[in-house]
Amino acid sequence: MKTYARADEVFVDGHGARLTDSTGREFLDMLAGIAVSALGHGHANLAANLRDQVGKIVHLSNLFRHPYTEQVATRLCAQTGMAAAFFTNSGTEAMECALKLARKAMHVRSTPHKTSFVAVEGGFHGRTMGALSLTYSEKYRKPFAPLMDVTWVPHDDIAALERAIAEKQPAAVCYEPIQGEGGIRPLSDAFIRASREICTRTGTVLIHDEVQCGCGRTGTFLAGQQTGVSPDVVVLAKPIAAGLPMGACLASAAFADTFEKGEHGSTFAGGPLACRAALVFLDELERGLLDNVKARGEQLKSGLEAIAKDLPIVREVRGKGLMLGLRLWHSATEFQKALYKAGVITNCTSGDVIRIVPPFVVTMQDVADALRTMRVVLAQFPQQQELATASAKS
Ligand SMILES: Cc1ncc(COP(=O)(O)O)c(C=O)c1O
Repeated sequence: MKTYARADEVFVDGHGARLTDSTGREFLDMLAGIAVSALGHGHANLAANLRDQVGKIVHLSNLFRHPYTEQVATRLCAQTGMAAAFFTNSGTEAMECALKLARKAMHVRSTPHKTSFVAVEGGFHGRTMGALSLTYSEKYRKPFAPLMDVTWVPHDDIAALERAIAEKQPAAVCYEPIQGEGGIRPLSDAFIRASREICTRTGTVLIHDEVQCGCGRTGTFLAGQQTGVSPDVVVLAKPIAAGLPMGACLASAAFADTFEKGEHGSTFAGGPLACRAALVFLDELERGLLDNVKARGEQLKSGLEAIAKDLPIVREVRGKGLMLGLRLWHSATEFQKALYKAGVITNCTSGDVIRIVPPFVVTMQDVADALRTMRVVLAQFPQQQELATASAKS
């Protein structure tokens, strides 16, 4: 189907944060398959574990047990303070689980049942009907109406959140602590803390969508942990199995037993192959990969800030850890294309932001090379003062 605008290159090999196309040209991967490939490409330990598992059992279904689902669930709960996990094959499916969980919890706890949702403007939660309903951008939702009843509140607007909850009596409030598709925009600590307080006071489920910002990408396992806030439900995916399709919906103790047997399910999810990959990812994180995320994140951020100081075309550097955005004074599409031509893979979100979400294994040299190329390419663009002069003249 015509759903994707793909680049022409055919990628055939990779190592760390480097990808090679079919002509032998090397690219620096600062996108990691949209914030996924945490262990980069060609990771020896991941390959060894997957080879071993492929030779044993690839798929079982959730009718039977293998050793790894419970190991991953236990370790995710230990990392997040949650009490139970439901595995999925993607971020949007993990969101569906969270939304169904909130509805089910309210089916039991509220009369009349609370069924609507409150989300934050600019948020992106996936493409299936439930997750799509909460996704802010109208271009994604409009062709598929009618969707669920959702009220969006402006970024960081605590009073609007309080009002929306009072008026709509939603089943849940859901947001990304750092918006990804929305242009790498962190929500303020004050908003996140206030949302916890209001949800607790009003008996509303608080869902954190950490599909993009979670699993260590911002330097802590959950981005929300940096605010000291623990949601009722947290949704993970992208890097969780180092590139294999996997997601998870985790629930706190109060919501762990919301579903009865058969009320939710998946044929493929939590299979042995994806779980082996997740265990390799969690092992690497615990063996010091988070330190690399922090160190390379600081190197990248200070490098981008230095570029921003020298080149007025840059409006803002934002984000945390290895989830960074370079916001320009105009559309970032042309810059993204020029960077790609120069051998650095990124993408453009929210119109004017270059999203930089490299593998967690990115090296000091990779970051230095990426920064050098970005500076050279960006310097070739008309700078902001020149643009301002040009538009004043016209
Ligand atoms: C915050 C967030 N939630 C949900 C999703 C949906 O994940 P998936 O594409 O794996 O369905 C995404 C994907 O970009 C995302 O960034």
